[in-house]
Amino acid sequence: MAQASEAGSQIEKKEWILNGFTMSTPGHLAPGLWRHPRNRSAQYTDIEYWTDMAKVLEKGKIHALFIADVLGAYDVYKGPDNLDPGLAGVAQFPITDPFLPIAAMAAVTKGLSFGITASTTYENPFLLARRFATLDHLTKGRVAWNAVTSHLESAARNVGLETQIKHDDRYKIADEFLTLTYKLWEGSWRDDAVAKDVEKGEYTIAGRVRRINHEGEFFRSAGPLTVEPSIQRTPFIFQAGTSSAGKSFATKHAECMFMAGMDPQGAKKSVDDIRARLVQDGRDPNSIKLIVGMLAIVDETDEKAQAKYEDYLKYVDLEGAATLFGGWTGTDLSTFSDEEDFRFTGPGAIQSLVNSWTETIPGTDGLKWTKKRVAQEIALGGPSPRAIGSPKTVADILERWIQESGIDGFNLAYVINPGDFEDIVKYLLPELRSRGVFWDEYAAKTTRENFFNDGLGPRLRDDHPGSQYKWTSDDINGSS
Ligand SMILES: Cc1cc2nc3c(=O)[nH]c(=O)nc-3n(C[C@H](O)[C@H](O)[C@H](O)COP(=O)(O)O)c2cc1C
Repeated sequence: MAQASEAGSQIEKKEWILNGFTMSTPGHLAPGLWRHPRNRSAQYTDIEYWTDMAKVLEKGKIHALFIADVLGAYDVYKGPDNLDPGLAGVAQFPITDPFLPIAAMAAVTKGLSFGITASTTYENPFLLARRFATLDHLTKGRVAWNAVTSHLESAARNVGLETQIKHDDRYKIADEFLTLTYKLWEGSWRDDAVAKDVEKGEYTIAGRVRRINHEGEFFRSAGPLTVEPSIQRTPFIFQAGTSSAGKSFATKHAECMFMAGMDPQGAKKSVDDIRARLVQDGRDPNSIKLIVGMLAIVDETDEKAQAKYEDYLKYVDLEGAATLFGGWTGTDLSTFSDEEDFRFTGPGAIQSLVNSWTETIPGTDGLKWTKKRVAQEIALGGPSPRAIGSPKTVADILERWIQESGIDGFNLAYVINPGDFEDIVKYLLPELRSRGVFWDEYAAKTTRENFFNDGLGPRLRDDHPGSQYKWTSDDINGSS
Protein backbone atom coordinates (compact mmCIF):
# COMPACT_ATOMS: atom_id res chain seq x y z
CA MET A 1 0.00 0.00 0.00
CA ALA A 2 2.84 2.39 0.89
CA GLN A 3 4.21 1.75 -2.56
CA ALA A 4 0.94 2.78 -4.15
CA SER A 5 0.97 6.02 -2.17
CA GLU A 6 4.55 6.81 -3.08
CA ALA A 7 3.79 6.13 -6.71
CA GLY A 8 0.76 8.39 -6.30
CA SER A 9 2.83 11.36 -5.22
CA GLN A 10 5.05 11.11 -8.32
CA ILE A 11 2.32 10.88 -10.95
CA GLU A 12 0.08 13.75 -11.94
CA LYS A 13 -3.29 13.40 -10.21
CA LYS A 14 -6.48 13.31 -12.20
CA GLU A 15 -9.96 13.78 -10.84
CA TRP A 16 -11.83 10.49 -10.67
CA ILE A 17 -15.31 9.50 -11.72
CA LEU A 18 -17.33 7.77 -9.00
CA ASN A 19 -20.77 6.28 -9.56
CA GLY A 20 -23.08 4.41 -7.24
CA PHE A 21 -23.94 1.05 -8.83
CA THR A 22 -27.36 -0.50 -8.29
CA MET A 23 -30.21 -2.41 -9.85
CA SER A 24 -33.94 -2.23 -9.18
CA THR A 25 -34.04 -5.40 -7.12
CA PRO A 26 -33.61 -6.39 -3.45
CA GLY A 27 -30.60 -8.53 -4.43
CA HIS A 28 -28.25 -6.80 -6.83
CA LEU A 29 -24.78 -8.17 -6.08
CA ALA A 30 -25.35 -9.71 -2.65
CA PRO A 31 -27.85 -12.59 -2.62
CA GLY A 32 -29.18 -13.26 0.89
CA LEU A 33 -28.26 -9.82 2.19
CA TRP A 34 -31.77 -8.45 1.72
CA ARG A 35 -32.48 -9.76 5.24
CA HIS A 36 -29.57 -7.94 6.91
CA PRO A 37 -31.11 -5.58 9.51
CA ARG A 38 -29.27 -2.53 8.11
CA ASN A 39 -30.16 -3.21 4.48
CA ARG A 40 -33.11 -1.30 3.01
CA SER A 41 -32.94 -3.00 -0.40
CA ALA A 42 -36.16 -4.95 0.22
CA GLN A 43 -37.93 -1.56 0.22
CA TYR A 44 -37.02 -1.05 -3.45
CA THR A 45 -40.70 -0.83 -4.39
CA ASP A 46 -41.05 2.34 -2.25
CA ILE A 47 -40.24 5.60 -3.96
CA GLU A 48 -38.59 6.87 -0.74
CA TYR A 49 -35.97 4.12 -1.03
CA TRP A 50 -34.85 5.73 -4.29
CA THR A 51 -35.12 9.36 -3.24
CA ASP A 52 -33.19 8.66 0.00
CA MET A 53 -30.44 6.85 -1.93
CA ALA A 54 -30.21 9.74 -4.40
CA LYS A 55 -29.82 12.24 -1.55
CA VAL A 56 -26.96 10.23 -0.01
CA LEU A 57 -25.13 10.09 -3.35
CA GLU A 58 -25.72 13.77 -4.05
CA LYS A 59 -24.38 14.67 -0.61
CA GLY A 60 -21.10 13.04 -1.67
CA LYS A 61 -21.21 14.71 -5.13
CA ILE A 62 -21.12 11.25 -6.69
CA HIS A 63 -21.30 11.55 -10.48
CA ALA A 64 -24.17 9.21 -11.21
CA LEU A 65 -26.38 6.42 -10.01
CA PHE A 66 -25.72 3.65 -12.55
CA ILE A 67 -28.64 1.22 -12.73
CA ALA A 68 -28.06 -2.22 -14.26
CA ASP A 69 -31.02 -4.11 -15.68
CA VAL A 70 -32.01 -7.47 -17.13
CA LEU A 71 -35.26 -8.54 -18.79
CA GLY A 72 -35.45 -12.11 -17.60
CA ALA A 73 -34.72 -14.47 -14.72
CA TYR A 74 -31.45 -16.37 -14.24
CA ASP A 75 -32.43 -19.97 -14.92
CA VAL A 76 -29.21 -21.81 -15.82
CA TYR A 77 -28.19 -23.16 -12.36
CA LYS A 78 -29.71 -26.57 -11.61
CA GLY A 79 -31.43 -26.11 -14.95
CA PRO A 80 -32.04 -25.76 -17.67
CA ASP A 81 -35.03 -23.54 -17.14
CA ASN A 82 -35.08 -23.64 -13.34
CA LEU A 83 -36.35 -20.49 -11.60
CA ASP A 84 -36.26 -21.87 -8.07
CA PRO A 85 -32.68 -21.75 -6.71
CA GLY A 86 -32.40 -17.94 -6.96
CA LEU A 87 -35.73 -17.06 -5.40
CA ALA A 88 -35.00 -17.29 -1.67
CA GLY A 89 -31.83 -15.22 -1.66
CA VAL A 90 -32.91 -12.90 -4.53
CA ALA A 91 -30.59 -13.42 -7.49
CA GLN A 92 -31.62 -10.20 -9.27
CA PHE A 93 -35.21 -11.43 -9.28
CA PRO A 94 -37.70 -9.84 -8.59
CA ILE A 95 -36.70 -6.73 -10.52
CA THR A 96 -38.66 -3.63 -11.55
CA ASP A 97 -38.34 -1.09 -14.36
CA PRO A 98 -35.31 1.19 -13.79
CA PHE A 99 -36.78 4.19 -15.64
CA LEU A 100 -39.63 4.90 -13.30
CA PRO A 101 -37.90 6.11 -10.12
CA ILE A 102 -35.68 8.56 -12.04
CA ALA A 103 -38.06 11.52 -12.14
CA ALA A 104 -38.63 11.29 -8.38
CA MET A 105 -34.87 11.17 -7.71
CA ALA A 106 -34.34 14.13 -10.04
CA ALA A 107 -36.85 16.13 -8.00
CA VAL A 108 -34.76 15.80 -4.81
CA THR A 109 -31.31 16.40 -6.38
CA LYS A 110 -29.59 18.99 -8.55
CA GLY A 111 -26.26 17.52 -9.62
CA LEU A 112 -26.53 13.70 -9.48
CA SER A 113 -26.90 11.99 -12.85
CA PHE A 114 -28.82 8.81 -13.65
CA GLY A 115 -27.44 6.09 -15.92
CA ILE A 116 -30.15 3.68 -17.02
CA THR A 117 -29.51 0.34 -18.70
CA ALA A 118 -31.73 -0.29 -21.73
CA SER A 119 -31.35 -3.04 -24.30
CA THR A 120 -30.87 -2.35 -28.01
CA THR A 121 -31.97 -5.93 -28.69
CA TYR A 122 -35.42 -5.69 -27.14
CA GLU A 123 -36.43 -2.01 -27.01
CA ASN A 124 -37.97 -0.08 -29.90
CA PRO A 125 -35.71 2.84 -30.97
CA PHE A 126 -38.43 5.46 -31.38
CA LEU A 127 -40.12 4.62 -28.07
CA LEU A 128 -36.82 4.53 -26.21
CA ALA A 129 -35.68 7.83 -27.75
CA ARG A 130 -38.94 9.40 -26.60
CA ARG A 131 -38.52 8.09 -23.05
CA PHE A 132 -34.91 9.28 -22.72
CA ALA A 133 -35.73 12.69 -24.23
CA THR A 134 -38.57 13.11 -21.74
CA LEU A 135 -36.25 12.20 -18.87
CA ASP A 136 -33.55 14.53 -20.17
CA HIS A 137 -36.11 17.33 -19.78
CA LEU A 138 -37.32 16.24 -16.35
CA THR A 139 -33.78 15.78 -15.00
CA LYS A 140 -32.54 19.00 -16.67
CA GLY A 141 -29.91 17.14 -18.65
CA ARG A 142 -28.83 14.55 -16.06
CA VAL A 143 -29.60 11.32 -17.84
CA ALA A 144 -27.36 8.66 -19.37
CA TRP A 145 -28.10 5.48 -21.30
CA ASN A 146 -26.16 2.26 -20.67
CA ALA A 147 -26.71 0.78 -24.14
CA VAL A 148 -26.41 -3.00 -23.79
CA THR A 149 -27.13 -5.84 -26.20
CA SER A 150 -28.27 -8.23 -23.40
CA HIS A 151 -27.26 -11.82 -22.91
CA LEU A 152 -30.08 -13.82 -21.30
CA GLU A 153 -32.01 -16.57 -23.07
CA SER A 154 -34.87 -15.90 -20.66
CA ALA A 155 -35.07 -12.26 -21.86
CA ALA A 156 -35.37 -13.37 -25.49
CA ARG A 157 -38.22 -15.69 -24.58
CA ASN A 158 -39.96 -12.97 -22.54
CA VAL A 159 -40.26 -10.75 -25.60
CA GLY A 160 -41.51 -13.52 -27.86
CA LEU A 161 -38.35 -14.87 -29.50
CA GLU A 162 -37.67 -18.60 -29.51
CA THR A 163 -34.02 -18.05 -28.73
CA GLN A 164 -31.48 -15.21 -28.59
CA ILE A 165 -30.35 -13.40 -31.72
CA LYS A 166 -26.70 -14.32 -32.38
CA HIS A 167 -24.09 -12.35 -30.42
CA ASP A 168 -22.46 -10.37 -33.24
CA ASP A 169 -25.82 -9.77 -34.94
CA ARG A 170 -27.02 -8.16 -31.71
CA TYR A 171 -24.17 -5.65 -32.06
CA LYS A 172 -25.10 -4.97 -35.74
CA ILE A 173 -28.63 -4.21 -34.60
CA ALA A 174 -27.24 -2.07 -31.78
CA ASP A 175 -25.19 -0.01 -34.22
CA GLU A 176 -28.20 0.82 -36.36
CA PHE A 177 -30.34 1.39 -33.25
CA LEU A 178 -27.93 4.07 -32.04
CA THR A 179 -27.73 5.72 -35.47
CA LEU A 180 -31.50 5.94 -35.64
CA THR A 181 -31.82 7.40 -32.18
CA TYR A 182 -29.15 10.05 -33.02
CA LYS A 183 -31.24 11.05 -36.04
CA LEU A 184 -34.29 11.38 -33.80
CA TRP A 185 -32.55 13.29 -31.01
CA GLU A 186 -30.15 15.43 -33.02
CA GLY A 187 -31.78 15.75 -36.42
CA SER A 188 -35.55 16.09 -35.99
CA TRP A 189 -35.69 19.57 -34.53
CA ARG A 190 -33.60 22.55 -35.57
CA ASP A 191 -31.91 24.09 -32.55
CA ASP A 192 -34.09 27.21 -32.76
CA ALA A 193 -37.34 25.45 -33.63
CA VAL A 194 -39.10 26.12 -30.33
CA ALA A 195 -39.87 29.85 -29.99
CA LYS A 196 -42.68 29.92 -27.41
CA ASP A 197 -43.45 33.40 -28.80
CA VAL A 198 -46.52 34.57 -26.95
CA GLU A 199 -46.96 37.71 -29.10
CA LYS A 200 -46.98 35.79 -32.35
CA GLY A 201 -48.82 32.85 -30.85
CA GLU A 202 -46.08 30.60 -32.16
CA TYR A 203 -44.85 27.74 -29.97
CA THR A 204 -42.83 25.90 -32.64
CA ILE A 205 -41.72 27.59 -35.88
CA ALA A 206 -42.92 25.87 -39.02
CA GLY A 207 -40.20 24.45 -41.23
CA ARG A 208 -37.89 23.79 -38.30
CA VAL A 209 -39.12 20.28 -37.53
CA ARG A 210 -38.66 17.53 -40.07
CA ARG A 211 -39.03 13.83 -40.68
CA ILE A 212 -35.91 11.71 -40.47
CA ASN A 213 -37.20 8.93 -42.76
CA HIS A 214 -34.85 6.23 -41.52
CA GLU A 215 -35.04 3.04 -43.61
CA GLY A 216 -32.38 0.59 -42.45
CA GLU A 217 -31.65 -3.10 -42.36
CA PHE A 218 -33.37 -3.61 -39.00
CA PHE A 219 -35.49 -0.51 -38.32
CA ARG A 220 -37.74 2.01 -40.02
CA SER A 221 -38.85 5.27 -38.46
CA ALA A 222 -40.31 8.32 -40.16
CA GLY A 223 -39.89 10.76 -37.30
CA PRO A 224 -39.69 13.47 -36.24
CA LEU A 225 -39.08 12.72 -32.57
CA THR A 226 -42.24 13.93 -30.90
CA VAL A 227 -40.37 15.38 -27.90
CA GLU A 228 -39.05 18.92 -28.26
CA PRO A 229 -35.26 19.33 -27.92
CA SER A 230 -33.86 18.65 -24.44
CA ILE A 231 -30.66 20.00 -22.93
CA GLN A 232 -28.32 17.16 -23.89
CA ARG A 233 -30.46 15.87 -26.83
CA THR A 234 -28.59 12.54 -26.95
CA PRO A 235 -28.30 11.21 -23.38
CA PHE A 236 -24.73 10.58 -22.24
CA ILE A 237 -23.85 7.12 -23.61
CA PHE A 238 -22.50 4.35 -21.39
CA GLN A 239 -21.68 0.87 -22.67
CA ALA A 240 -20.85 -2.42 -20.98
CA GLY A 241 -19.59 -5.33 -23.07
CA THR A 242 -16.16 -6.82 -23.48
CA SER A 243 -16.08 -8.96 -26.65
CA SER A 244 -14.38 -7.73 -29.79
CA ALA A 245 -17.76 -6.71 -31.26
CA GLY A 246 -18.61 -5.06 -27.94
CA LYS A 247 -15.40 -3.03 -27.96
CA SER A 248 -15.92 -1.92 -31.57
CA PHE A 249 -19.41 -0.81 -30.66
CA ALA A 250 -18.09 1.03 -27.60
CA THR A 251 -15.29 2.84 -29.34
CA LYS A 252 -17.74 4.09 -31.95
CA HIS A 253 -20.63 5.11 -29.70
CA ALA A 254 -19.77 5.16 -26.00
CA GLU A 255 -18.73 8.14 -23.93
CA CYS A 256 -18.10 6.05 -20.83
CA MET A 257 -17.40 2.33 -20.81
CA PHE A 258 -18.06 0.05 -17.85
CA MET A 259 -15.34 -2.58 -18.18
CA ALA A 260 -15.02 -5.94 -16.52
CA GLY A 261 -11.73 -6.13 -14.60
CA MET A 262 -10.39 -7.98 -11.60
CA ASP A 263 -6.86 -6.60 -11.45
CA PRO A 264 -5.17 -3.38 -12.60
CA GLN A 265 -2.74 -5.12 -14.98
CA GLY A 266 -5.53 -6.98 -16.76
CA ALA A 267 -7.60 -3.80 -16.97
CA LYS A 268 -4.61 -1.92 -18.41
CA LYS A 269 -4.59 -4.27 -21.42
CA SER A 270 -8.24 -3.41 -22.12
CA VAL A 271 -7.60 0.30 -21.53
CA ASP A 272 -4.70 0.33 -24.02
CA ASP A 273 -6.74 -1.64 -26.55
CA ILE A 274 -9.71 0.73 -26.30
CA ARG A 275 -7.57 3.87 -26.56
CA ALA A 276 -5.85 2.43 -29.69
CA ARG A 277 -9.21 1.52 -31.27
CA LEU A 278 -10.45 5.07 -30.63
CA VAL A 279 -7.52 6.51 -32.56
CA GLN A 280 -8.31 4.11 -35.44
CA ASP A 281 -11.92 5.37 -35.39
CA GLY A 282 -10.77 8.99 -35.60
CA ARG A 283 -11.84 9.84 -32.08
CA ASP A 284 -9.77 11.42 -29.34
CA PRO A 285 -8.18 8.50 -27.35
CA ASN A 286 -9.45 10.08 -24.15
CA SER A 287 -12.97 10.64 -25.42
CA ILE A 288 -14.25 7.60 -23.54
CA LYS A 289 -14.13 7.53 -19.78
CA LEU A 290 -13.30 4.03 -18.54
CA ILE A 291 -14.60 2.67 -15.26
CA VAL A 292 -14.58 -0.70 -13.45
CA GLY A 293 -16.84 -2.11 -10.75
CA MET A 294 -15.53 -2.08 -7.18
CA LEU A 295 -16.97 -3.16 -3.85
CA ALA A 296 -15.63 -0.68 -1.27
CA ILE A 297 -16.39 -1.45 2.37
CA VAL A 298 -14.95 1.25 4.52
CA ASP A 299 -15.03 2.23 8.17
CA GLU A 300 -12.93 4.23 10.64
CA THR A 301 -10.31 1.49 10.98
CA ASP A 302 -9.21 -1.60 9.07
CA GLU A 303 -10.50 -3.77 11.93
CA LYS A 304 -13.96 -2.21 11.91
CA ALA A 305 -14.28 -2.53 8.14
CA GLN A 306 -13.14 -6.15 8.23
CA ALA A 307 -15.63 -6.91 11.04
CA LYS A 308 -18.39 -5.35 8.94
CA TYR A 309 -17.42 -7.51 5.96
CA GLU A 310 -17.39 -10.64 8.11
CA ASP A 311 -20.81 -9.77 9.47
CA TYR A 312 -22.11 -9.42 5.89
CA LEU A 313 -20.68 -12.84 5.02
CA LYS A 314 -23.00 -14.46 7.60
CA TYR A 315 -26.02 -13.52 5.47
CA VAL A 316 -24.73 -14.77 2.11
CA ASP A 317 -26.99 -17.13 0.15
CA LEU A 318 -24.75 -19.46 -1.87
CA GLU A 319 -27.60 -20.87 -3.95
CA GLY A 320 -28.35 -17.32 -5.05
CA ALA A 321 -24.68 -16.72 -5.85
CA ALA A 322 -24.55 -19.90 -7.95
CA THR A 323 -27.70 -18.71 -9.74
CA LEU A 324 -26.07 -15.36 -10.59
CA PHE A 325 -22.96 -17.16 -11.79
CA GLY A 326 -25.09 -19.34 -14.08
CA GLY A 327 -26.82 -16.28 -15.53
CA TRP A 328 -23.61 -14.34 -16.11
CA THR A 329 -21.48 -17.15 -17.52
CA GLY A 330 -23.98 -19.73 -18.86
CA THR A 331 -22.22 -22.38 -16.72
CA ASP A 332 -24.29 -24.52 -14.37
CA LEU A 333 -22.17 -25.15 -11.26
CA SER A 334 -24.47 -28.02 -10.22
CA THR A 335 -23.06 -30.15 -13.05
CA PHE A 336 -19.61 -30.22 -11.37
CA SER A 337 -18.63 -32.36 -8.38
CA ASP A 338 -17.85 -30.75 -5.00
CA GLU A 339 -14.14 -31.40 -5.34
CA GLU A 340 -13.48 -30.21 -8.90
CA ASP A 341 -11.01 -27.33 -9.11
CA PHE A 342 -12.05 -24.55 -11.48
CA ARG A 343 -8.44 -23.53 -12.03
CA PHE A 344 -8.30 -26.61 -14.27
CA THR A 345 -11.90 -27.55 -15.08
CA GLY A 346 -14.87 -25.87 -16.78
CA PRO A 347 -14.97 -23.54 -19.80
CA GLY A 348 -11.81 -21.52 -20.59
CA ALA A 349 -13.34 -18.17 -19.68
CA ILE A 350 -14.15 -19.47 -16.20
CA GLN A 351 -10.70 -20.95 -15.70
CA SER A 352 -9.16 -17.59 -16.59
CA LEU A 353 -11.56 -15.74 -14.26
CA VAL A 354 -10.69 -18.09 -11.40
CA ASN A 355 -6.98 -17.84 -12.14
CA SER A 356 -7.21 -14.05 -12.04
CA TRP A 357 -8.77 -14.42 -8.57
CA THR A 358 -5.88 -16.68 -7.51
CA GLU A 359 -3.44 -13.99 -8.62
CA THR A 360 -5.21 -11.02 -7.08
CA ILE A 361 -7.00 -12.09 -3.93
CA PRO A 362 -4.68 -12.20 -0.93
CA GLY A 363 -4.34 -15.58 0.77
CA THR A 364 -5.75 -17.67 -2.09
CA ASP A 365 -2.47 -18.74 -3.63
CA GLY A 366 -2.48 -22.51 -4.07
CA LEU A 367 -6.03 -22.93 -2.77
CA LYS A 368 -8.46 -25.16 -4.61
CA TRP A 369 -11.29 -23.30 -6.35
CA THR A 370 -14.23 -25.63 -5.76
CA LYS A 371 -17.73 -24.63 -6.83
CA LYS A 372 -18.48 -23.59 -3.24
CA ARG A 373 -15.48 -21.23 -3.22
CA VAL A 374 -16.51 -19.81 -6.59
CA ALA A 375 -20.00 -19.08 -5.24
CA GLN A 376 -18.49 -17.58 -2.07
CA GLU A 377 -16.19 -15.37 -4.11
CA ILE A 378 -18.99 -13.71 -6.08
CA ALA A 379 -21.52 -13.68 -3.24
CA LEU A 380 -20.63 -10.16 -2.10
CA GLY A 381 -20.05 -7.69 -4.93
CA GLY A 382 -20.23 -10.16 -7.82
CA PRO A 383 -17.17 -10.57 -10.02
CA SER A 384 -15.74 -7.17 -8.97
CA PRO A 385 -12.58 -6.49 -7.00
CA ARG A 386 -12.99 -5.55 -3.33
CA ALA A 387 -11.43 -2.83 -1.23
CA ILE A 388 -12.05 -3.31 2.48
CA GLY A 389 -10.53 -1.19 5.22
CA SER A 390 -9.93 2.23 6.68
CA PRO A 391 -10.23 5.31 4.45
CA LYS A 392 -6.47 5.19 3.88
CA THR A 393 -6.40 1.49 3.00
CA VAL A 394 -9.31 1.75 0.57
CA ALA A 395 -7.99 4.97 -1.01
CA ASP A 396 -4.57 3.33 -1.50
CA ILE A 397 -6.17 0.36 -3.29
CA LEU A 398 -8.27 2.60 -5.54
CA GLU A 399 -5.34 4.90 -6.26
CA ARG A 400 -3.21 1.94 -7.29
CA TRP A 401 -5.97 0.84 -9.67
CA ILE A 402 -6.18 4.25 -11.30
CA GLN A 403 -2.44 4.61 -11.69
CA GLU A 404 -1.60 1.10 -12.87
CA SER A 405 -4.54 0.58 -15.20
CA GLY A 406 -5.19 4.07 -16.58
CA ILE A 407 -8.94 3.87 -15.85
CA ASP A 408 -10.88 7.02 -14.95
CA GLY A 409 -12.99 5.80 -12.07
CA PHE A 410 -15.32 3.25 -10.51
CA ASN A 411 -18.86 1.96 -10.32
CA LEU A 412 -19.13 1.46 -6.56
CA ALA A 413 -21.23 -1.57 -5.61
CA TYR A 414 -22.91 -2.04 -2.24
CA VAL A 415 -23.86 -4.91 0.00
CA ILE A 416 -26.05 -2.82 2.33
CA ASN A 417 -28.12 -0.02 0.82
CA PRO A 418 -27.76 2.85 1.49
CA GLY A 419 -25.39 2.08 4.42
CA ASP A 420 -22.34 1.26 2.30
CA PHE A 421 -22.86 4.42 0.22
CA GLU A 422 -23.22 6.44 3.44
CA ASP A 423 -19.90 5.01 4.67
CA ILE A 424 -18.24 5.96 1.39
CA VAL A 425 -19.51 9.52 1.72
CA LYS A 426 -18.56 9.74 5.39
CA TYR A 427 -15.18 7.99 5.47
CA LEU A 428 -13.74 7.55 1.99
CA LEU A 429 -14.56 10.78 0.15
CA PRO A 430 -12.81 13.10 2.65
CA GLU A 431 -9.66 10.97 2.23
CA LEU A 432 -9.93 11.13 -1.58
CA ARG A 433 -10.48 14.88 -1.42
CA SER A 434 -7.42 15.32 0.78
CA ARG A 435 -5.44 13.47 -1.92
CA GLY A 436 -6.82 15.83 -4.59
CA VAL A 437 -8.48 13.08 -6.66
CA PHE A 438 -12.16 13.83 -6.10
CA TRP A 439 -14.02 17.08 -6.50
CA ASP A 440 -15.82 19.08 -3.79
CA GLU A 441 -18.65 20.13 -6.05
CA TYR A 442 -20.25 19.14 -9.34
CA ALA A 443 -18.51 20.86 -12.23
CA ALA A 444 -21.75 21.61 -14.05
CA LYS A 445 -25.42 20.77 -14.25
CA THR A 446 -25.55 18.07 -16.93
CA THR A 447 -24.18 14.56 -17.16
CA ARG A 448 -21.96 15.12 -20.20
CA GLU A 449 -20.41 18.25 -18.70
CA ASN A 450 -19.79 16.56 -15.36
CA PHE A 451 -18.18 13.47 -16.90
CA PHE A 452 -16.00 15.36 -19.38
CA ASN A 453 -15.46 18.56 -17.38
CA ASP A 454 -14.00 20.11 -20.55
CA GLY A 455 -16.05 23.28 -20.85
CA LEU A 456 -17.62 22.12 -24.12
CA GLY A 457 -21.26 22.18 -23.07
CA PRO A 458 -23.98 19.56 -22.76
CA ARG A 459 -24.21 18.34 -26.39
CA LEU A 460 -22.38 15.48 -28.11
CA ARG A 461 -18.74 16.28 -28.85
CA ASP A 462 -17.84 17.02 -32.49
CA ASP A 463 -15.85 13.80 -33.01
CA HIS A 464 -18.78 11.64 -31.87
CA PRO A 465 -20.62 9.94 -34.77
CA GLY A 466 -24.01 11.22 -33.55
CA SER A 467 -22.86 14.80 -34.12
CA GLN A 468 -23.21 14.49 -37.90
CA TYR A 469 -27.00 14.47 -37.46
CA LYS A 470 -27.15 17.76 -35.52
CA TRP A 471 -29.47 20.31 -37.13
CA THR A 472 -28.13 23.69 -36.16
CA SER A 473 -29.64 27.08 -36.95
CA ASP A 474 -26.78 27.77 -39.44
CA ASP A 475 -27.93 24.78 -41.46
CA ILE A 476 -30.68 26.80 -43.13
CA ASN A 477 -31.42 24.32 -45.89
CA GLY A 478 -32.33 21.75 -43.30
CA SER A 479 -32.35 18.87 -45.71
CA SER A 480 -31.95 15.49 -44.11
C1 LIG B 1 -19.35 -4.76 -16.55
C2 LIG B 1 -20.53 -5.22 -17.35
C3 LIG B 1 -21.84 -4.86 -16.94
C4 LIG B 1 -22.95 -5.27 -17.68
N1 LIG B 1 -24.22 -4.91 -17.27
C5 LIG B 1 -25.29 -5.36 -17.98
C6 LIG B 1 -26.62 -5.06 -17.58
O1 LIG B 1 -26.86 -4.38 -16.61
N2 LIG B 1 -27.64 -5.57 -18.31
C7 LIG B 1 -27.43 -6.35 -19.42
O2 LIG B 1 -28.40 -6.75 -20.06
N3 LIG B 1 -26.19 -6.65 -19.81
C8 LIG B 1 -25.13 -6.18 -19.12
N4 LIG B 1 -23.88 -6.51 -19.53
C9 LIG B 1 -23.74 -7.45 -20.66
C10 LIG B 1 -23.70 -6.80 -22.00
O3 LIG B 1 -24.95 -6.27 -22.29
C11 LIG B 1 -23.45 -7.78 -23.11
O4 LIG B 1 -24.65 -8.30 -23.54
C12 LIG B 1 -22.68 -8.97 -22.75
O5 LIG B 1 -21.57 -8.63 -22.00
C13 LIG B 1 -22.26 -9.64 -24.05
O6 LIG B 1 -21.49 -8.74 -24.76
P1 LIG B 1 -19.95 -8.91 -24.82
O7 LIG B 1 -19.78 -10.28 -25.33
O8 LIG B 1 -19.53 -7.82 -25.76
O9 LIG B 1 -19.37 -8.74 -23.45
C14 LIG B 1 -22.76 -6.07 -18.82
C15 LIG B 1 -21.47 -6.44 -19.22
C16 LIG B 1 -20.36 -6.01 -18.50
C17 LIG B 1 -19.00 -6.39 -18.99
